[in-house]
Amino acid sequence: MLTKVSQIDFFWDLLLGFLNLAIGRLLPRLHVPKTDLTKKVAIITGGNSGIGFQIALEFARRGATVHLACRNASKADNAVSEITNQIPESHGRVEAHTLDTSSLASVRAFAEEWKGDIDILMHNAGVASVPEGQSLFTPDGFPLLYATNFLGPFLLTYLLEKYLAPGARIISTTSTGQYAGDISARFSLNSVTNHIEPGFHTSRKLNKKVPADADVYNNTKLMQVAFTRLLQQHFDHENGLKNQRLVHCFTPGFTSTPMVDKFNIRSFRLDPIWWILQSTVIFATDPRQGAATGVWLATTKDGGGNGGGYWDRMTRRVSKIDVTDPHIVQRLWVRWEADAGIEWR
Ligand SMILES: NC(=O)c1ccc[n+]([C@@H]2O[C@H](COP(=O)([O-])OP(=O)(O)OC[C@H]3O[C@@H](n4cnc5c(N)ncnc54)[C@H](OP(=O)(O)O)[C@@H]3O)[C@@H](O)[C@H]2O)c1
Ligand SMILES: *[C@@H]1O[C@H](CO)[C@@H](O)[C@H](O)[C@H]1NC(C)=O
Ligand SMILES: *[C@@H]1O[C@H](CO)[C@@H](O)[C@H](O)[C@H]1NC(C)=O
Repeated sequence: MLTKVSQIDFFWDLLLGFLNLAIGRLLPRLHVPKTDLTKKVAIITGGNSGIGFQIALEFARRGATVHLACRNASKADNAVSEITNQIPESHGRVEAHTLDTSSLASVRAFAEEWKGDIDILMHNAGVASVPEGQSLFTPDGFPLLYATNFLGPFLLTYLLEKYLAPGARIISTTSTGQYAGDISARFSLNSVTNHIEPGFHTSRKLNKKVPADADVYNNTKLMQVAFTRLLQQHFDHENGLKNQRLVHCFTPGFTSTPMVDKFNIRSFRLDPIWWILQSTVIFATDPRQGAATGVWLATTKDGGGNGGGYWDRMTRRVSKIDVTDPHIVQRLWVRWEADAGIEWR
């Protein structure tokens, strides 16, 4: 099992995490060594925009075959053209696919179409706000942010598991907001639809009827960190060998991407954090820097050592999951299975 981390280590890394958010732009630029990815196959969800686009570009530059899995086909096609324009030698090995991670049916359809080995699976697609006028819940009955950022990617990993190459990397773009996530010891183990459940979808302290988007977002980002840990344990257990498939997650820091323009004004009133971020975006780093830690985790030779980690600026950090009761973390898997309608042990 894990070595217990001290509260001091946790608070120190939390402090550094928020400092990196605030002054990331002023810190030395991160440089990712140019590893060769020839013959490697990568899938990047949300690869048409922001951090995901930069990751796709870096993979294409290194010689990989790159599959952009995007909800909007025309945006995906545009991204393919832009990558092949910037990197002419990548022509013919960058492909667009349709995938809406918020829909379990779309995830299943994507997986059914898929053929061939996967060396890198980047769970990057994400939303921070429910768009104006849109329901808080998806047609499947799950909170939109949870379905998009977590549940769809969870099901996708399950369905694609058989295609993951022995040394595959599974990397999630999470957020420093994971430190503010909070999972209760008593959330339901059964799937609950059309309901936002405090302690699971939102922080357990929540007592408002409609939560702030930031609160739901923070918990989806914490779940990605928990999934990283649990999926690595799953692979280690299955293979009986450590460090074959490697699972990691990272925070890009505060990055200037189209996401910031997609914040919904409704949520500003409930939690001003999105308003603060939107009005301070001049302090954010550029998408290339935001992507660097993810590119590094996916391409570096030793893959960041033992899997299951949370990374900030190419450094492994203590996450909120490290100070969460392991029994609570284990229970999450049971609930995710119930929500995704699968059994995955
Ligand atoms: N920017 C930051 O400061 C920051 C900080 C911490 C974490 N992150 C994380 O970084 C990741 C990338 O965000 P970004 O900043 O690069 O924002 P972005 O430019 O808005 O990119 C998000 C990507 O996800 C896609 N997406 C959204 N919903 C989707 C769905 N249902 N199905 C498939 N794709 C979907 C978007 O598609 P469309 O283009 O169609 O909208 C877009 O391609 C997210 O997971 C985010 O939570 C960002
Ligand atoms: C897809 O993106 C284009 C912009 O490239 C936009 O005009 C269109 O409305 C989007 N489609 C959907 C279904 O959101
Ligand atoms: C979500 O996390 C951010 C830090 O990234 C924090 O400032 C915000 O208050 C959190 N929101 C809630 C409602 O907990």
